[in-house]
Amino acid sequence: MEHAMKEMSIDDLDLIAQGGMGKIYRINDEQILKVFNNITPEELKKQKDSAVEVTKAMVPTAISFETVKVGDKFGIIYEFLNSTSAGKELADHPERVQEIGEKMGTLLKELHGASMEGRSLEYMNDRANSWIDRIENKYIQEKDARLLREIVKAIPRGNCLLHCDFHEGNVMIHNGEYLLIDIDEVCIGHPIYDLTYHYINHEFLAKSPEMLLQSTGLTPDLAKKSAQITRKTYFGAIDKKTEILYKDLMTGFVPFLMVMNLGRLGEKTEYMDKDSLSLVLDKFLPLLRLQRSKFIRDLGYLERL
Ligand SMILES: Nc1ncnc2c1ncn2[C@@H]1O[C@H](COP(=O)(O)OP(=O)(O)O)[C@@H](O)[C@H]1O
Ligand SMILES: [Mg+2]
Repeated sequence: MEHAMKEMSIDDLDLIAQGGMGKIYRINDEQILKVFNNITPEELKKQKDSAVEVTKAMVPTAISFETVKVGDKFGIIYEFLNSTSAGKELADHPERVQEIGEKMGTLLKELHGASMEGRSLEYMNDRANSWIDRIENKYIQEKDARLLREIVKAIPRGNCLLHCDFHEGNVMIHNGEYLLIDIDEVCIGHPIYDLTYHYINHEFLAKSPEMLLQSTGLTPDLAKKSAQITRKTYFGAIDKKTEILYKDLMTGFVPFLMVMNLGRLGEKTEYMDKDSLSLVLDKFLPLLRLQRSKFIRDLGYLERL
């Protein structure tokens, strides 16, 4: 029999952060509570299980404790890291960009290199297909859903632990050690997903400085600089050919993930403002249709990256 979920009140807790996905409260010196905006009990369980898998994979992260019910919402209790995010540290000390960018690259390499043997995590490609199911005949037509599925099929399944929102705002510097937070959406898959989310978070979002500041804590210039150092550390020496391939892949993968984001948001897509939705459907989707053949061809070279 399933245990009833513990109920908690946030009345006496301090709100320490408010993000896109929910709110973070401090419970005491040891624990925080992350309350999600819109999440079903099934999604909550999936996210909690994912967080546990990250710890088991020995990736440095905040430990997740238990799931709780908070009024009509749900949350996860995490270890409280009494420290600052890499984003805040970098914003306060831009002269440390080389060091912090390198540490981010090392952490990303460590994450992708984690042993995934016996880990029961969802595959990113399967998740991507479920996102397409969600938006087909709702936001996009059948033929575009077919195009998205064709792209997913061309992406190697991959065997890396993926964070899916890797940036300085989701890393805490705790006693000098870099620890991942916001780990409830981790999965297994090809690193290209994380590399593209990283690119979107730093270089693509740089076109919208307020959003960039809100997620990473960084200005466009600093985000770009840090991202370049992170990438250099991640890839080691990049030859010209690899660099061109990487750029080509980003050209296709960015619009792809921007369209897929509608599925990622699920129910929350209904709360998206008109302009953002139009940007996805009237700009990125047509862009993707246009690039279809070249993009799928480029995906064939992905293993060279
Ligand atoms: N384990 C933690 N310890 C201390 N602060 C945390 C912890 N987890 C999150 N926070 C704070 O809350 C902010 C948002 O948390 P995060 O999990 O990234 O939520 P979101 O999904 O909204 O981005 C972080 O940037 C950090 O300042
Ligand atoms: Mg976050």
